[in-house]
Amino acid sequence: MERSSTITITGAGGQIGYALLFRIAAGDMLGPDRPVRLRLLEIPQGVRAAEGAALELQDCAFPLLESVDVTVSAEDAFDGAEIGMLVGARPRGPGMERADLLAANAGIFGPQGAAIAKGAASGFRAVVVGNPANTNALIAANAAEGMPEGRFTALTRLDHNRAVGQLAEALEIGAGAIADVIIWGNHSATQFPDIAHAQLADGRTVFDALADRMGGPIAALAWLDDVFIPRVAGRGAEIIEVRGSSSVASAANAAIEHVRDEQRGSRRGWTSAAVVSRGEYGVPEGLVCSFPVISRGDGEGYRVVEGLDFDPRGRALFEASVAELVAERDAVRALGVL
Ligand code: NAI
Repeated sequence: MERSSTITITGAGGQIGYALLFRIAAGDMLGPDRPVRLRLLEIPQGVRAAEGAALELQDCAFPLLESVDVTVSAEDAFDGAEIGMLVGARPRGPGMERADLLAANAGIFGPQGAAIAKGAASGFRAVVVGNPANTNALIAANAAEGMPEGRFTALTRLDHNRAVGQLAEALEIGAGAIADVIIWGNHSATQFPDIAHAQLADGRTVFDALADRMGGPIAALAWLDDVFIPRVAGRGAEIIEVRGSSSVASAANAAIEHVRDEQRGSRRGWTSAAVVSRGEYGVPEGLVCSFPVISRGDGEGYRVVEGLDFDPRGRALFEASVAELVAERDAVRALGVL
């Protein structure tokens, strides 16, 4: 057995929390040899749901689960934590303007960042799931004084997996045969799902395979613009319409894969994650932007894959999404949060 890891999950009484906890305790995230200690952070309205989940975790008698603590104190939740999964966020209410939404979330992610700086373990890393995920991660990273900004990431792995799923369906192949898709930008409708560098296990490019299947490159380009990009970017709304409720199991799965790869190392090719920009691809430093990333599993976290080229159309789509991130950052600055 390896030494145990302490994992703090915020919003643990919510839907995604419920889909996360049991898989983490079963070893799906950190592997079958790594015991886990879970800290569940909730607000008073959510505590009973988190306590109920803790009872059920006990009833699973998971061999890897060393302890479960439920708390409403961010300081207690993050004290000694090594991994944070920041799921709890304030959803947009009726008539709520973007500035109100950002301010409400700054009131959550600011104090959580401060609690992390105060008590989390030195190697702490966090993924922000709660929306607006990129800007919430920016707020937490800025509030965590003394902790390197790069410890905070935001989840775009669900968008990445959605893109792979759409390609697999279009090509009638298994999702496992597709590598090197990229989600650029914000986890929002402006994101740019990019297949320019994507490849199949047999060595063909995804674009060539699409062109073969669709009767030529012009038809493939039309499918990418008219079907693929809007469907991936709008998938959250599609799930709500069909299911009657937002994405839960797929979001939890993506969060688990994000942390698993960051901690243990990427598997084949790169994936997508929103990380703090150091100016890669011209993205302003400090923005939390989705890039192609690889982790070696050496404790250094995700590194941006650099040197990839864009066609002019792709560059324009990416820049539009980065402009939205800049606008979110400026709106948060105007509130005096950063
Ligand atoms: P939910 O409403 O079922 O659960 C959220 C939980 O967070 C609630 O139990 C609530 O009490 C708790 N919470 C609120 N403020 C908190 C705070 N300050 N501290 C601790 N807990 C707090 O929502 P669900 O479905 O679990 O989604 C959670 C978030 O994940 C939402 O913001 C949603 O938009 C986002 N999301 C992000 C995705 C991504 O790909 N990045 C995909 C799907 C959802």
